[in-house]
Amino acid sequence: TAQGSPTLAVIPGDGIGPEVTAEALKVLEVASPVTFAPTRYDLGAERYLATGEVLPDSVLEEVRGHDAILLGAVGGKPNDPDLPPGILERGLLLRLRFELDHYVNLRPSRLYPGTASPLADHVLERGDIDFVVVREGTEGPYTGNGGALRVGTPAEIATEVSVNTAYGVERVVRDAFARASRRPRKKVTLVHKTNVLVNAGSLWWRVFEAVAAEHPDVTTDYMHVDAAMIFLATDPARFDVIVTDNLFGDIVTDLAAAITGGIGLAASGNVNPDRTAPSMFEPVHGSAPDIAGQQKADPTAAILSAALLLDHLGHPGAAAAIEAAVLADLAERTTGTTRRTSEVGDAIAARL
Ligand code: NAI
Ligand code: MG
Repeated sequence: TAQGSPTLAVIPGDGIGPEVTAEALKVLEVASPVTFAPTRYDLGAERYLATGEVLPDSVLEEVRGHDAILLGAVGGKPNDPDLPPGILERGLLLRLRFELDHYVNLRPSRLYPGTASPLADHVLERGDIDFVVVREGTEGPYTGNGGALRVGTPAEIATEVSVNTAYGVERVVRDAFARASRRPRKKVTLVHKTNVLVNAGSLWWRVFEAVAAEHPDVTTDYMHVDAAMIFLATDPARFDVIVTDNLFGDIVTDLAAAITGGIGLAASGNVNPDRTAPSMFEPVHGSAPDIAGQQKADPTAAILSAALLLDHLGHPGAAAAIEAAVLADLAERTTGTTRRTSEVGDAIAARL
């Protein structure tokens, strides 16, 4: 791809996905030093219900040919009998992560000034909340390594095997240390359950120790996942970079979003640090069918996801400018007033 014009696969998806994606693209256009060539792909619940297709191989290969992917959200109405559970999660979201080798699931968690947190004042007074979770994205219990026997009988057996490879653990731990050494506090906390999950735990621990030895500038810490839940609620300022497995990371990141202003602000990247395939950036939230089509969704998480995209593509200055514009917008938000989705996007774009 020509340096001046990176290609962008845009998957707006369902529900509020198209509404928040439109604002992310609006902000990207004014903030980015390069002009993106976007191609829109209609994937998600709507397409599945209309055509029975989830992610045709030909579409996957087209998407693979882009420099980056911006995704809104996919998912239908709750308990739609025509939409089998897991079909979009496994067939679209997880398939993209596995096929495009998104082994780093990146979730920055920052409590911006003026943003309400459910945490008590004495907890917030302990220090600024500004950490990033590096969640392993291609292994653990999410690989589909399992099965069921005698389903529906009293003797039913169901297994979900957690897959941990030395290769997979090492590359994500290395990414966490590399990120930490670029941050002011330079600290990595491994979150696992090494005392009970002794096989996977031993592998993670040994790899963590070995990579730590190569980074004398980075401070390390270890926490069992249950204790980490306590500290996220009582002393989140102690975290800088958290590295953890796929399942623990799924849970840790939702609590992290909850303590830093909620789902409307939480951005994420599904990153392939080796750049063998495009990385995908998306808000953490889903398609929110309850407010879809009403211009009620907060597009901030999608806009911050676009900032992560710019940072990944080598434009950290533009990414920081978006974050600063969001920060300024958040500082002026007052309770009681509501703006339309597009008004929030306009306001943030206007600051750039
Ligand atoms: P959700 O995140 O869509 O909604 C949860 C609650 O948060 C709702 O009350 C919603 O109105 C609110 N909310 C979410 N985003 C918001 C925003 N930007 N601004 C203001 N309010 C917002 O999660 P839910 O309800 O569990 O799932 C709805 C659908 O989304 C399901 O089909 C689910 O499978 C799908 N989903 C898709 C994801 C993705 O595409 N990565 C992630 C999570 C869920
Ligand atoms: Mg989750």
